[in-house]
Amino acid sequence: MSLLTLKNLTKSFGGLMAVNDVSFDVEEGSIIGLIGPNGAGKTTVFNLITGNHRPDRGEIIFNGIHITGMLTHRIVSLGIGRTFQTIRLFQNLTALENVLAGRHARMKSGATGAMLRTPGQKREERDALASALRELSFVGLQEQANQLARNLSYGNQRLLEIARALATEPRLVILDEPASGMNEQETTLLIDLIRMIRDRKITILLIEHDMSLVMRACERIVVLEYGSKIAEGPPSAIKEDPKVIEAYLGTGD
Ligand SMILES: Nc1ncnc2c1ncn2[C@@H]1O[C@H](COP(=O)(O)OP(=O)(O)O)[C@@H](O)[C@H]1O
Ligand SMILES: [Mg+2]
Repeated sequence: MSLLTLKNLTKSFGGLMAVNDVSFDVEEGSIIGLIGPNGAGKTTVFNLITGNHRPDRGEIIFNGIHITGMLTHRIVSLGIGRTFQTIRLFQNLTALENVLAGRHARMKSGATGAMLRTPGQKREERDALASALRELSFVGLQEQANQLARNLSYGNQRLLEIARALATEPRLVILDEPASGMNEQETTLLIDLIRMIRDRKITILLIEHDMSLVMRACERIVVLEYGSKIAEGPPSAIKEDPKVIEAYLGTGD
């Protein structure tokens, strides 16, 4: 079953066609890579999915619901979690507090509830804490729970962002260049983590600049160039595709 469907998505900024008539499906339970040279429109596709931008044309259907043009927090509550190409953590909060902030996107009580503290709300907070600690352990940051985000290594900050996205209990996580700034050992562990996420029945759509990571981690790959989809298929076919090779050679990637 298709969990996410993008239909004829188009978005321009001024005269620039950042995303041009892009369509593809993300099957439930799969790991899909979205690749392409710098400036190809990958991040813009993510921003369209999560409601950070509204498409000029086209449709986005998630789990049978039209989410085109919905507000971001509503999209998160429907079950899409994400990380960003540039790290967006609360640098002066602890790792645990950062994950709790992700979890709050899911909580009913909100700020007033937190002040009044009815039994139901206390329970909700306890559950939130337990779940935040679980997600920190899941990404391997249990030891760092009480460290400030800014004191974590770059690779660990990336893992913390993933934990925060998972704390929203997504059915789909979208990761924007999760390996950027990671060394080889961290990248290998990241691939294991991505598979562990999928083993939790969470579907993964990831952007990656580095072809070798995508080839190792993804089951299907969608390739963008200048805003348009130029290829789609399993890694073995994408690797051999003359249009893809040309797109990458052309930019020296
Ligand atoms: N908010 C924006 N305003 C204007 N131009 C943008 C904006 N976001 C992206 N672009 C432009 O759209 C194109 C695609 O960008 P992006 O989606 O970030 O590419 P990628 O993630 O593939 O590197 C680029 O030319 C970029 O400069
Ligand atoms: Mg990008």
